[in-house]
Amino acid sequence: MKVLIVGNMGYVGPVLSRYLRAARPDATIHGFDNAYFAHCLTGVKVLPERSLDEQFYGDVRTISKDMLRGYDAVIQLAAISNDPMGNQFEAVTMDVNQNSALTVAGYAAEVGVKHFVFASSCSVYGIAQGGPRKESDALNPITAYAKSKIGTEQGLQALDTEMVVTCLRFATACGMSDRLRLDLVLNDYVACALTTGEITVLSDGTPWRPLIDVADMARAMDWAIDRKPENGGRYLSVNAGSNSSNYQVKDLAEAVAAAVPGTRISINYAAPVDSRSYQADFTLYEKLAPTHQPLVDLNQSVQNLIAGLKRMDFKDQDFRKSNLIRLVVLQDHISSERLSRDLEWQHVETSKAAQ
Ligand SMILES: NC(=O)c1ccc[n+]([C@@H]2O[C@H](COP(=O)([O-])OP(=O)(O)OC[C@H]3O[C@@H](n4cnc5c(N)ncnc54)[C@H](O)[C@@H]3O)[C@@H](O)[C@H]2O)c1
Repeated sequence: MKVLIVGNMGYVGPVLSRYLRAARPDATIHGFDNAYFAHCLTGVKVLPERSLDEQFYGDVRTISKDMLRGYDAVIQLAAISNDPMGNQFEAVTMDVNQNSALTVAGYAAEVGVKHFVFASSCSVYGIAQGGPRKESDALNPITAYAKSKIGTEQGLQALDTEMVVTCLRFATACGMSDRLRLDLVLNDYVACALTTGEITVLSDGTPWRPLIDVADMARAMDWAIDRKPENGGRYLSVNAGSNSSNYQVKDLAEAVAAAVPGTRISINYAAPVDSRSYQADFTLYEKLAPTHQPLVDLNQSVQNLIAGLKRMDFKDQDFRKSNLIRLVVLQDHISSERLSRDLEWQHVETSKAAQ
């Protein structure tokens, strides 16, 4: 099997590459990325891209049809991948997350790729009262990020193709990666507990978040790259996670505090209402993918993060301003004129480079 992961050099990609390499030792696995976060490594001795057979560099906004030729499966991860970045770079978010994802899928279909997997998000449910959301429930995408995910799903559904398309609506990710990021709720809490001994919950603690460990995201994508159309249809949007992993954020803070003795929790009762609060129903995923159900529970994710951060000798109390926060990395690239405001790499002038 030959697989292309588009957007493999972020948080999820390294875990996915290693997972696929172990699960499918005979597969040829390639990556394509424009390397915004290439340098954001977390204490590893070898590049995560070593799990791949080949790494290609480029901007997905200008990807060629030829790049997609010869693959059995394409996994589309490349994105401006959270709400803060989506708010700051709204037009780029639509262009990368939606227009380019649909271009990649269209090219893939034209050149005979058999399976296309899209990393969607449960954030398409927005603020959703009234119990866990099913795939057939109404959507309420509030942010540019969530709107781009649903726009892509709709475009993929409309594709006239034999290609089997799976949109995995992932719960909020958590867990350790060779390119860890701390702009995710659980990861942030663990970093707070270890560095300051205090978890600051930026809401009143009541918003719901379904969680999935990044290793279990990889497991879901491994399932989707050769899913049979009889199992869910040629086109499928499915919530990816587990029914036991819908948490209120105050429960997450308590789980972390229990794992890091002495941690205090401070809850901001005066915070404005969080624009993301939803529970998701993962029954369909349970039925369709019984062999690829999530295996990493909340406590294990917390322990993996603690071990990973300790390995890095992580002590940065100011980590919300560090390169473990993706918006900070992009802003730094822009202020140093490495990236344009449209997030395109700028050529380094020879004279400047020599200085
Ligand atoms: N982490 C989560 O909580 C979560 C949850 C649900 C869905 N997802 C989705 O999973 C996917 C992967 O998430 P992640 O956390 O690894 O994101 P990430 O931001 O860490 O990585 C995204 C990767 O895409 C690349 N990329 C961005 N724009 C590009 C462009 N124009 N051309 C080429 N490459 C480009 C970046 O360089 C980066 O390596 C995303 O689509 C995200 O929306 C993530």
